[in-house]
Amino acid sequence: MELKTLLKIDSVLEQPVLLAPMAGVTDYAFREICRRQGADMTYSEMISAKGLKYNSRRTFELADVHQGERLAIQLFGREPKDIAQAIEMLQEQQGEKIVCFDLNMGCPAPKIVNNGEGSALMKEPLLAAHIVEEAKRTTSRPVTVKFRKGFDMQYCNYLQFAQTMQEAGADAITVHGRLRGQYYAGKADWACIAQIKERVHIPVIANGDIFSPEDALAILQQTRADGIMVARGATGNPFLFEQIKQYLQDGTYKEVERDRKANVILQQAELCCEAKGERRAMQEFRKHAAWYLKGVRGAAALRQQAISITSMEELKKLIDYVSGEPAHTVRDMV
Ligand SMILES: Cc1cc2nc3c(=O)[nH]c(=O)nc-3n(C[C@H](O)[C@H](O)[C@H](O)COP(=O)(O)O)c2cc1C
Repeated sequence: MELKTLLKIDSVLEQPVLLAPMAGVTDYAFREICRRQGADMTYSEMISAKGLKYNSRRTFELADVHQGERLAIQLFGREPKDIAQAIEMLQEQQGEKIVCFDLNMGCPAPKIVNNGEGSALMKEPLLAAHIVEEAKRTTSRPVTVKFRKGFDMQYCNYLQFAQTMQEAGADAITVHGRLRGQYYAGKADWACIAQIKERVHIPVIANGDIFSPEDALAILQQTRADGIMVARGATGNPFLFEQIKQYLQDGTYKEVERDRKANVILQQAELCCEAKGERRAMQEFRKHAAWYLKGVRGAAALRQQAISITSMEELKKLIDYVSGEPAHTVRDMV
């Protein structure tokens, strides 16, 4: 089935452009901002299936789908029963607002990997398959899997893993072309995504190192993927989505005007305050503020201020620097 049909995505593009799940980053405010700038679908931060099982309030908060939102929920865990239970709970709570359940088999963080979760599951393909089967038995929604090129050189098993996921019933897969040990360093290997695309018949979403509209076109040409997913390229630059969309349609894209950028930062901060209250929102917004300031003249000093903001008032002063700066291209910012 086509990716757009599978995920009920209404996009001008044949291959939709998605905002990746990012822990600590893709909260409701950032997702909504990316959606407004053209992201065809967004993902929650990764959510612990065990955390839901033990009724952790903060964990449930991560899975909160807001009014009007259509969200892919990403779960992590290594117990098939925990994943199934999490899906049941979330379906009951959020209903139609959940587009699909994505299973995290790519996270490289030691505290996840040391529990045998995230990318560690690439070393246990049979267990990984069992998790997918259990998820499929529990929901009629699409179940997708996000994984890496492999865990390490010994388990550089992306082709076999992709096939195993397909056989287990995964409806689509997302591939980030790096080994676990690479974290986010070096260059993502797009050739491995192209090989997977030739091997499986389910939709493949290509991920890794899309920082510009040109990168988006290149990864699509090199992998023939059914969709693309952007993570770091969107931080401080949600405008990348509309630029990619324009570029893929007519080969051009516009620079972002300073005033518009300032306005979007303000919108995101306000959404964040509404969802979390000003105090917590501003603590969590610090990193976003620092990302938005990249490329602005005097950014180093401004970012020092950004990482200690405590109120909207302080943030607004920083935003003034964004709107008051000479024009710069988004290319400079990433
Ligand atoms: C801060 C941060 C948090 C992330 N959190 C998640 C996560 O919760 N789930 C996940 O599958 N991947 C996560 N990732 C990985 C991204 O989704 C993506 O696969 C990776 O960054 C490569 O894409 P990029 O080159 O566009 O950044 C995270 C990445 C970053 C930088």
